[in-house]
Amino acid sequence: MGRVSAAVLLWGLATLARATQSSSIQYDAGLFTPFGDLSALSASQYTVLTHPGFASHSVRIKQSHFCDESVRAYTGYIDVDARHLFFYFFESRRDPDTDPVVLWTNGGPGGSSTMGLFMELGPCRMAGPNATVPFEYSWNEQANIFSIDQPVDVGFSYADYGEHVDTSEEGGKDIAAFMAIFFEHFSQFRGRPFHMTGESYAGRYLPVYAAAVYDQNTELVKAGMSPINLSSVMMGNGATDFFEIVWALYDMRCKTHKFPMVDTISDCAALKQLVTRCKKWTKSSCNDVYDKLACSSAFDYCFDNIGIQFFQKYNPYDATRPWQTFEADVCYPDVAQFLSSAKTQALLGVDSHKTNFSTHSALVSDAFEQSGDYHSFRADHYLAALLERHVRVLIYVGTNDWIASWVGNERMTFKLEWTQQDVYQTAGKHDWFVAGMQGPAGWWRKGGGLTFATVYGAGHLVPFDQPERALHMANRWLAGEDL
Ligand SMILES: *[C@@H]1O[C@H](CO)[C@@H](O)[C@H](O)[C@H]1NC(C)=O
Ligand SMILES: *[C@@H]1O[C@H](CO)[C@@H](O)[C@H](O)[C@H]1NC(C)=O
Ligand SMILES: *[C@@H]1O[C@H](CO)[C@@H](O)[C@H](O)[C@H]1NC(C)=O
Repeated sequence: MGRVSAAVLLWGLATLARATQSSSIQYDAGLFTPFGDLSALSASQYTVLTHPGFASHSVRIKQSHFCDESVRAYTGYIDVDARHLFFYFFESRRDPDTDPVVLWTNGGPGGSSTMGLFMELGPCRMAGPNATVPFEYSWNEQANIFSIDQPVDVGFSYADYGEHVDTSEEGGKDIAAFMAIFFEHFSQFRGRPFHMTGESYAGRYLPVYAAAVYDQNTELVKAGMSPINLSSVMMGNGATDFFEIVWALYDMRCKTHKFPMVDTISDCAALKQLVTRCKKWTKSSCNDVYDKLACSSAFDYCFDNIGIQFFQKYNPYDATRPWQTFEADVCYPDVAQFLSSAKTQALLGVDSHKTNFSTHSALVSDAFEQSGDYHSFRADHYLAALLERHVRVLIYVGTNDWIASWVGNERMTFKLEWTQQDVYQTAGKHDWFVAGMQGPAGWWRKGGGLTFATVYGAGHLVPFDQPERALHMANRWLAGEDL
């Protein structure tokens, strides 16, 4: 397939609303009646929800019986003018009326969140190409969970005239508006702790999306609506600081002795020199000033030469797995056949406009690469600003992943600047354990609202490789406890 684009390397989800640019929310409260209870929604047709404060947004939602019959499940679209984003919502297996609300997105950019839903943390997993079975370690054990295919063109999401979103900033506005409409209509969830989670490129989406939700609250309150109780951001094997991720490939390839040393000494010496040069190059063209063309060439050259050449020989997502081609879904099961079947689509309520399901949108990944979304903004600054406002942050990393490694992610956390950074930087490391499982599950460090955790035995897709450990971690985190 010729040159492997940087954009296809990371699975995941995406958006930012700049408060200064968003027009204020204004409406006549007399025009709004909340829908009330989610369980009153029809299962045979969509109910359309609107809110006069969000004139260009509406939500179509219905009950859908699939995946996990022990809970109520809902599917539908967020309609934003001509854009339609498909989502899934599963109630908690424990207590939907008190458990938190969690939104999951995969990365990519352009990766469908159904990978997370059917392979990682959703209430069911694939059992053959056309069937699912309920999954015991789903994150809806103690939480109500959303999974959204975003931005538009990902999964079942589409635009009437082929419009698309090409930056994280744009993606965030729709997510923030959707969550506001949801919490306003379904009053049983109002004020409920809300957590935003995802992996891989979602490490760049989520800081921006969470900021959009947080900043929108000022507008919601002004308009007499309830603020969204944004409690935390949880990111797995993220690409929050793409440069640290790329530099850390040297460490993963040439310094860690956990995996067999696959590079020769002369390769490592050349790589070290390349990293040194690339750091200078990107500092001058991406950081000291932002020159999009110069930064893109530096980024592409450095990523290609430090990363991609290596990934063509070794599995970038999991050092313990054999190499597969990029097209082979990296040894992970296929959800496309199941989601492409007319029967599944009828069950979910998929519009006839887009029935050709694909787990990856090349349109989105190319658009994000073209726009420079990989380097045009500092997602770590968003994270620090969220920490400053007491939104908790969990950075968790499967230690077998090369591409978005624990080394690069840990460095990113040490560089975050907020008023309590010294509390985090001087905190000790602790092992964490899962009852009934042998040995430590990983280690963690926390301080000033930030927790960094490693997960042993996992690659890029932590809940896929270590579902029991991942669920333990999620439940403890959502309950506000140490791992
Ligand atoms: C918001 O969530 C936190 C938990 O993160 C909870 O302690 C608090 O009571 C919630 N606020 C409201 C207004 O319900
Ligand atoms: C799965 O369903 C498709 C049609 O939806 C069918 O063509 C295919 O044979 C089925 N596969 C299996 C293994 O049942
Ligand atoms: C379905 O999507 C795949 C992958 O994006 C594409 O190659 C194929 O041509 C599409 N098929 C149709 C009928 O649109």
